[in-house]
Amino acid sequence: MGHPLCTAVILAASVLVLTLLMSCWHFKVHEAVVANETIEEDLLLKSTAILDELDKRRQEIRTLTNSSEVQRFMDTSETFEQQSFEGKHLENGNTVSIGSIIKNPDHIGCAQLVNVRSVDVLGSGYTKIVLQVVLSEGHTVALKTVYDQGTDIRRCLEEFNDPLGCHKLVAFKLKKEIVLLQRLQHPNIIKLRGHCEVSSGDITAVLEQGQPLQMIQLLQSTWEERFRVCLGLTRLLHYLSNSPLGSVALLDFQPRQFVMVDGELKLTDLDDAILTEPVCQLDQDCVLQFPLRNFSLPCSPQGVCEGMNSMRNLYNAYRYFFTYLLPHQTPPALKHLVDNIMNTTGELRSSINDTLEAFKDVLHLYRSGLHLDSYIPSLIRDYAVMRGVSTSGNMDYRCWPSYSQFGCLLSVHSVREAAFICNSHPQCSSFCLSKQRTWTGRLLASFQSSFSHLVPDGNSEVYMKKTKAPSVDRV
Ligand SMILES: Nc1ncnc2c1ncn2[C@@H]1O[C@H](COP(=O)(O)OP(=O)(O)OP(=O)(O)O)[C@@H](O)[C@H]1O
Ligand SMILES: *[C@@H]1O[C@H](CO)[C@@H](O)[C@H](O)[C@H]1NC(C)=O
Ligand SMILES: *[C@@H]1O[C@H](CO)[C@@H](O)[C@H](O)[C@H]1NC(C)=O
Ligand SMILES: *[C@@H]1O[C@H](CO)[C@@H](O)[C@H](O)[C@H]1NC(C)=O
Ligand SMILES: *[C@@H]1O[C@H](CO)[C@@H](O)[C@H](O)[C@H]1NC(C)=O
Ligand SMILES: *[C@@H]1O[C@H](CO)[C@@H](O)[C@H](O)[C@H]1NC(C)=O
Repeated sequence: MGHPLCTAVILAASVLVLTLLMSCWHFKVHEAVVANETIEEDLLLKSTAILDELDKRRQEIRTLTNSSEVQRFMDTSETFEQQSFEGKHLENGNTVSIGSIIKNPDHIGCAQLVNVRSVDVLGSGYTKIVLQVVLSEGHTVALKTVYDQGTDIRRCLEEFNDPLGCHKLVAFKLKKEIVLLQRLQHPNIIKLRGHCEVSSGDITAVLEQGQPLQMIQLLQSTWEERFRVCLGLTRLLHYLSNSPLGSVALLDFQPRQFVMVDGELKLTDLDDAILTEPVCQLDQDCVLQFPLRNFSLPCSPQGVCEGMNSMRNLYNAYRYFFTYLLPHQTPPALKHLVDNIMNTTGELRSSINDTLEAFKDVLHLYRSGLHLDSYIPSLIRDYAVMRGVSTSGNMDYRCWPSYSQFGCLLSVHSVREAAFICNSHPQCSSFCLSKQRTWTGRLLASFQSSFSHLVPDGNSEVYMKKTKAPSVDRV
């Protein structure tokens, strides 16, 4: 509440008001149509085209929602659509259906979205806009709705000139996404916390909140953090290729389809997912085309390009993520393993299963510290240790890639690795180890050129270089 953003608040307010009044507005559109016969005819003509389109999307969603629990969600939608035509809902406050997700215990429905507090815009694309909202009980969530000023709606209006139809049509993309989020659950897929569908068919997804992926920022982070993103992506693709819905391909595979939640990559945009492998007659039908590479797969006796979806995902992971994030600053002893991952994914010579195994090997080696033994000598004897203290009045120096922008804060496997690093930095005369750990379980060590005094700190120990120790030894 410290920094209210006026425009955002106004936008959010208008979105909510819009959501609640949408059915009312639709009702008026219908009245206008009846009043002017030429427009009515015109709209009816356009509507048949749009109705066909709507039918296709409904059908697509039906095939996705073959299980009874999801079926109930769809049945509720149909009921409320009918009510909207009768206009009954306009009289009382119960204009909204409480869409609940049976699978998810802490579901959020329309009722919880009525009294939302402060708001910010988190992002938008061609189809959807995402708002940050604080619910009345204090939870922060991301609300995803159809973006009325987005390219998708604008193109549809140009083609069909039917605001009601277009809104419905585009809302189906979000419905598909919601259904997919219900069925596909994985640590690297954004969590659906609930959804709200109003009588007009307008729909809002309630998602766990993330931060839009900033590739530039990621490029500047440590190898450990970048490796985490690539590992998460690989785990996601492994899940998608063996998902309960079959082998899922993401047709639109760009960094903006993902967000970060506490350092972990999560997929948020699922409306361009396909769930079936392409059908084929000949091997020539199974060619994966990318700007710089083409790959051909065999056409199976059953007439499908088997494995094509997972291969498409894997190559996209290579070209959009691995090439930028993985190789650079790899710990020397892991380099051959990482090079091998780059090579096999860049050439699509490994399956997603084998790629995940290769990633796990790197993680295991990195965590265990085994990769260090042959590389670094033990220099701990050069240092005097003081336990239960930390340093104060530090003379920090900067190093790269530091976890802190003000000093030199690096993750290490052990005191031994920290001593090796300190010896390799001319400015370093001491380092401090705290109990803080990174996601892989490595220790955080801060390196400094000097400090003015020691302070008691049960969670820390200080290592001072004996030979080069400045003030303390010599004064
Ligand atoms: N849960 C979330 N938390 C924070 N930001 C999010 C969340 N979900 C989405 N965003 C942001 O909102 C943007 C738009 O969402 P989304 O990608 O689903 O919309 P879209 O219209 O399909 O986008 P595109 O045109 O890229 O396909 C995303 O690029 C992302 O930056
Ligand atoms: C009816 O349609 C015609 C032609 O599109 C338009 O010129 C006229 O303004 C419309 N009338 C009303 C009442 O909307
Ligand atoms: C959908 O469900 C019906 C029965 O409920 C079943 O016969 C059919 O095979 C299912 N289709 C798919 C694609 O799972
Ligand atoms: C990929 O195949 C297409 C169509 O056959 C062709 O036009 C293109 O040049 C190929 N690209 C590469 C990089 O081989
Ligand atoms: C993979 O390695 C081979 C040689 O072992 C090399 O010719 C090829 O260019 C490499 N490919 C990639 C994508 O690194
Ligand atoms: C890949 O791994 C999954 C789960 O670990 C397994 O079910 C599947 O059969 C494997 N696929 C192949 C082609 O080995």
